[in-house]
Amino acid sequence: MRRLLKSLFGKKNNEEIITDDFCSYCNSTLPQKSKFNIFKCSSCNTLNFKPFNIDEIYLEEFISYGGSGAVFRSGDKAIKLVDKKDLTALKELNNEYEVYSSLKEIDKHLLPLEAFFENATYAGLITPYEKGGTLAQFIEKNGPMDFREGLELILQITDAVQCLYKNGFLYPDIKPQNILISSKGQIQLCDYGHVSSLSSDVDDNVDVSGTADFISPERLTGVKEDCRSSLYSIGLLIHYIFTARKLFNASSLQETAEKHLSNNAANLMQKELAHLPKSFIKLVERLTDSNQSLRLGSFPEFKGMIRKQLTVTPH
Ligand SMILES: Nc1ncnc2c1ncn2[C@@H]1O[C@H](COP(=O)(O)OP(=O)(O)OP(=O)(O)O)[C@@H](O)[C@H]1O
Ligand SMILES: [Mg+2]
Repeated sequence: MRRLLKSLFGKKNNEEIITDDFCSYCNSTLPQKSKFNIFKCSSCNTLNFKPFNIDEIYLEEFISYGGSGAVFRSGDKAIKLVDKKDLTALKELNNEYEVYSSLKEIDKHLLPLEAFFENATYAGLITPYEKGGTLAQFIEKNGPMDFREGLELILQITDAVQCLYKNGFLYPDIKPQNILISSKGQIQLCDYGHVSSLSSDVDDNVDVSGTADFISPERLTGVKEDCRSSLYSIGLLIHYIFTARKLFNASSLQETAEKHLSNNAANLMQKELAHLPKSFIKLVERLTDSNQSLRLGSFPEFKGMIRKQLTVTPH
């Protein structure tokens, strides 16, 4: 893998390293301590990043700071980095690479993992850098999507999730933050950290990784998930892209989870999606019933129904 790394990155110098210790936003003095060279300003909470090298990889721009690791840009690559002392994060990173490496068939809408690397302190994954940002950022900036455009996007997301499923894996983290948009406007599903084998037992320690907005009820109650759980999350994602709102607005993870369990999402769709074709609303209702056994249970069938919607929707 080291050999591969050398071919992916030329060594760069550190000229661009910021040398001052003041917040770029409010000019307050920054704390001495940092994680991944990210200094959180104690006055305004701005995250200030000082570029640095890990062996031959020059991390030049900070992209995202998650619960466990951080993502950086290095040239045209994105680097997902974890501190090896964080064993949970390391396990997820390893899982991510193992899952991807074991795929027999790789859909073009799955973000390719190009290399895994580690030194004494860090472990990381290298992927192509997708400059279009995430679906969450896109919707925040542009508001609800055009119907046709949204349907095309849903087909691409379903292709990616279905491909993992065909390979024997469940992707449990369908959410706009895990959907990247490439420069060509195509989607790339990322973050295989919580992907699990379809044959494994129900995980009692479900990590909802920062958001429960798109989670299936069975994931919250510990019932075994299958493609119907993914279709539920896709249903909530459909609601999100066509309204630019989350179905269950709550101030905490706990509260969101409770709303998922005490409401039947399907019953809310008629009102929420009133601006869309009736036949499409019916389809979304079939995805989002809180009762798993009443849901649509096949990716191909779902995609067929979306394609049908596309044929009757004018360009
Ligand atoms: N290849 C990439 N190109 C551009 N941005 C990326 C890329 N990979 C990840 N990101 C950005 O980094 C964020 C976090 O990535 P990812 O979800 O893989 O990491 P994570 O540590 O599991 O984060 P979280 O716990 O927040 O889900 C994404 O939401 C996206 O904003
Ligand atoms: Mg993520």
